[in-house]
Amino acid sequence: MQLKKIRSDMNLKGKRVLVRIDANVPIKKGKAVDGPNGRIAKAAVGINWLSQRGAKVIIMSHLGRPNGRRTASYSLKPVAKRLSNLIGVKIKLSKSITGSDVENIVEKMNEGEIILLENIRFDLREKQNSSDFTKELSVLADMYVNDAFSVSHREHASVSGITKEIPAYAGPLLSNEVSVLSKLNKNTKEPFVVIMGGLKVQTKMPVIKNFEKQASNVLIGGALANTFFAAEGLEIGRSVFDELGIDEAKNAISHLGKKLILPIDVVVVRSLRKDAKLEVKAPDSLNKTDRIVDIGPKTRVLYKSIIEHAKVIVYNGPMGYCEINTFCAGTKFIAKAIANKTSSAVTIVGGGDTVPVLERLKIADKFTLLSTGGSAMLKFLAGKKLPGLEVLKIKN
Ligand code: 3PG
Repeated sequence: MQLKKIRSDMNLKGKRVLVRIDANVPIKKGKAVDGPNGRIAKAAVGINWLSQRGAKVIIMSHLGRPNGRRTASYSLKPVAKRLSNLIGVKIKLSKSITGSDVENIVEKMNEGEIILLENIRFDLREKQNSSDFTKELSVLADMYVNDAFSVSHREHASVSGITKEIPAYAGPLLSNEVSVLSKLNKNTKEPFVVIMGGLKVQTKMPVIKNFEKQASNVLIGGALANTFFAAEGLEIGRSVFDELGIDEAKNAISHLGKKLILPIDVVVVRSLRKDAKLEVKAPDSLNKTDRIVDIGPKTRVLYKSIIEHAKVIVYNGPMGYCEINTFCAGTKFIAKAIANKTSSAVTIVGGGDTVPVLERLKIADKFTLLSTGGSAMLKFLAGKKLPGLEVLKIKN
């Protein structure tokens, strides 16, 4: 996919540039949880680049889903702080998103200055992709840059609508993600291994379907595996699974045949407490009080042996219930095995939930691509059109 990119030969000096980033990260105790490979840290690179070229940078982002209501817990205050620390200048947060107040602020901006607009979803018109709203936003700037791949699956005003009003370009972070993922869609080297965890069958299955032919193996873990076990008629006790996904899982079992690899052992507990006793069981030997919380040791070794032979690896979603560290061993093991392959294989990892785990393991920078996108990456890899990218495509 070829996108219209912001380029270093463009004259940006004194230009007002409206940049859409995705700063949607967890906020804990008033602080943005964002490590060196987090969404905000990655977006800061493009913002800095624009500022150093003399652009007046006006940043837009959402945080959570405030549904058009100004809610203190969804304010971008912690994001302004994180960005200020990353870039090394104080970044002002404008309470107004459109209108005369913010227009006045922008008018007074100096070359290279950066401001952040308050949570774009505080205005309901963002989600409605309202043309009034995009017109009001466009008054603020000479051009628009989308550097938020992870929200490009949304047909929202600041993602796609705005591109009707002012010249629009893809930012460096977005361009890089699309470039790596596009190659994957076209010519994927073999052995190509797809590893899927997490819960929702509905979001993972289209990716599995899209790569049904090319993939050498599809490895399943996490609650997704529980749905497959249930589809096979196995007792899964009190394990979390996706009830609505059973039929899809049955289809995948018959379509994929031997390519589909399910866990051969699982870690079960009786309660979701961090001090719960861990037991390893075969998937067909669970009782009604068991809960599957991780892939078992034999499965880890089996999956690693498949990963070791791969030339291309795509991984999305945890292998277990990573909210509790003791149930995250399988995810860590698989993530490390993938990271170790990066020198000899293309390794692509996505899913917002996985990033903090990788940061803790200090391997977040050890992949060909650690995508900022969860749903956006899955949709892209499922071959679906993303509204935010469609509007930036170079038409042949
Ligand atoms: C994400 O976290 O996947 C993106 O920020 C998109 O958020 P949304 O699902 O609320 O649109």
